[in-house]
Amino acid sequence: MNLILLGPPGAGKGTQADMLATFFGLTKLSTGDMLRAEVKTGSALGAKARGIMESGQLVPDDLIIEMIASCIDDNKNRHGIILDGFPRTMGQAEALDEMLGKRGLEIDHVIQLVVNEDEIVERLSGRFSCSSCEKGYHETFAPPKRKGVCDKCGGTSFSRRTDDKPSTVRARLAAYNEQTALILPYYSEARSLVKVDGMAEMDKVFNNIKNLLG
Ligand code: AP5
Repeated sequence: MNLILLGPPGAGKGTQADMLATFFGLTKLSTGDMLRAEVKTGSALGAKARGIMESGQLVPDDLIIEMIASCIDDNKNRHGIILDGFPRTMGQAEALDEMLGKRGLEIDHVIQLVVNEDEIVERLSGRFSCSSCEKGYHETFAPPKRKGVCDKCGGTSFSRRTDDKPSTVRARLAAYNEQTALILPYYSEARSLVKVDGMAEMDKVFNNIKNLLG
């Protein structure tokens, strides 16, 4: 099963992708996580992407397509993949069809998480993650079980994403509305996109998606 999760920044794509990947045994491919890893290691791609990400704009299609194509090539998981944060433009959507088509694969489900803008701002302003293992949290909606201690690795140091500043969140939302939202009709017409209420609690959103996927 190959899935795409679509939705604006903070809609819960990463959260749901992790839960679905674990439940269905899928490989999660997150272009945002990949780019952050490139920035962290100081690669040539990371150096190109860093300023663009900090300004809330989209990284150029050619860089993204090359990066994701090699992950799809390398993926040996017969259960399938879950795409989080990709595609984000028509060029990326068409390139994805081509790369999957060459390998005799296709997208089986496209899920759009629907969340309003006030909720997005609240979610992104409260988001943080463990500096050691990168497990994600939220101050109100998903705090660690023990304050200041990571549930997963016991780490006590946490960090916030530089692009979660309010001014950058506004730019990311604009990029979503002006560029990524344009691909929604493509998936509703050709691939039976399904909208899911992303405003519900995380477990409820997960159960709704799980039920849709059968
Ligand atoms: P990326 O990392 O993909 O960021 P994004 O799409 O802006 O999405 P986020 O990761 O911010 O949010 P999310 O929907 O995953 O929400 P999450 O689950 O974390 O991209 C970052 C940048 O990289 C882009 O701006 C761009 O520059 C570049 N980039 C990446 N891919 C690209 C591409 N394909 N093309 C070009 N450029 C690209 O949840 C958010 C918070 O809310 C968390 O704290 C979570 O705990 C909480 N939460 C989640 N669900 C719920 C819920 N149901 N109720 C309450 N709280 C919740």
